[in-house]
Amino acid sequence: MIGMDAHVEERDERSVERTLTADERSKLENQNSRLVPQFLATKLELEAKKNWDLFYKRNDTRFFKDRHWTVREFSELSECSASEKSKVLLEVGCGVGNFVYPLIEEKLNLFIYACDFSPRAIEYVKSHSLYDETKIKAFQVDITTDEIFHYLQCESVDIVTLVFVLSAIHPDKFLQTLRTLFILLKPGGIMLFRDYGLYDMAQLRFKAGNKIAENFYMRQDGTRSYYFSVEEVHQLVKDAGFQVTTNSYIHRRTVNKKEEIDVPRIFIQGKFRKVPP
Ligand SMILES: C[S@@+](CC[C@H](N)C(=O)[O-])C[C@H]1O[C@@H](n2cnc3c(N)ncnc32)[C@H](O)[C@@H]1O
Repeated sequence: MIGMDAHVEERDERSVERTLTADERSKLENQNSRLVPQFLATKLELEAKKNWDLFYKRNDTRFFKDRHWTVREFSELSECSASEKSKVLLEVGCGVGNFVYPLIEEKLNLFIYACDFSPRAIEYVKSHSLYDETKIKAFQVDITTDEIFHYLQCESVDIVTLVFVLSAIHPDKFLQTLRTLFILLKPGGIMLFRDYGLYDMAQLRFKAGNKIAENFYMRQDGTRSYYFSVEEVHQLVKDAGFQVTTNSYIHRRTVNKKEEIDVPRIFIQGKFRKVPP
């Protein structure tokens, strides 16, 4: 079932929760047969920053593809070329810049702050040929804390982008993180969100021994991933103070002909506004 304010995109008739087959249901149940032990779950939380930094050490800038779909999916970004005054965008969990550099190439009227808690990722962002501090400033922070207020003032940001990042954070810290982003936004500002959806094929593939908590898993490399329902996202962003503009599942396929991969993916995409008082 989709939340009350959920927006079903016309171009996607299947913007609903995935119905599991009996085989998939049994795979999910089997994940409960052996959970990640508590000491390891605690260690993963304490070492989250280190594990993401090692991820970038192993993969450098090769892992994620440049996100060229963002201007198409989020019209709020393309509107920035028309607006007279430059807008301020904060990209949270920017990784090596796969989201921000395609935006810079679009020559939008934006100043971009890009933050991540992996120091190595930030170094990659800064060493990009398009890094220019008149257009972009990258810095290292843990967004689940209040460190970001050393860099940005309350109500100083027009657009927050949160793309495949909340899922990497412990569920106990979702609300605190969203509240911080709410405080950073100017009244009238918007948060653009995309992340993993409930029962995405990556969730179904986890074996017993990898589940930390409901819909929250450990990958082999120690990074973690959460899978969201639209109802849950709706409730979280509302509790953080946002008004939901759109919030729905989107179904895509990951295709790699060379490796004969063609798998369905489920993401959640939403736009959440800070309504002026
Ligand atoms: C899956 S990657 C997404 C990167 C980028 N947003 C993109 O779309 O290509 C998740 C990113 O979130 C960052 N991250 C995870 N937890 C974070 C935290 N507490 N504070 C800041 N960044 C965090 C990781 O270092 C990683 O770069």
